[in-house]
Amino acid sequence: MHVTWKLPGGAEIVAEVADGLNLMEAAVANNVPGVIGECGGCLSCATCHVFVTEDWLDRVGGPGEMEDVMLDMVAGERRPNSRLSCQITAAVALDGLVLEVPEES
Ligand code: FES
Repeated sequence: MHVTWKLPGGAEIVAEVADGLNLMEAAVANNVPGVIGECGGCLSCATCHVFVTEDWLDRVGGPGEMEDVMLDMVAGERRPNSRLSCQITAAVALDGLVLEVPEES
């Protein structure tokens, strides 16, 4: 699947991501600035924070219970479309997904 990360300055990074990879791992592999993934995807750092763009919200869905708790700890602003990208798994159904990287994750 293809994923686009929109960076705070207006630049975009587009990458092909293998199914089954989580989108924090994909961001790190593609040097997306601002997506750190400090805890390695075990839901304890909130440094993989992204905003899911409007068109994709329904398909990506909302956070799970633990993720919801962690989202209160993001360094920047939490919005209704905030997700922790280590909890989103690449799949064919999400081909074309567009994520925004917050100013501060
Ligand atoms: Fe730590 Fe996602 S990588 S919560």
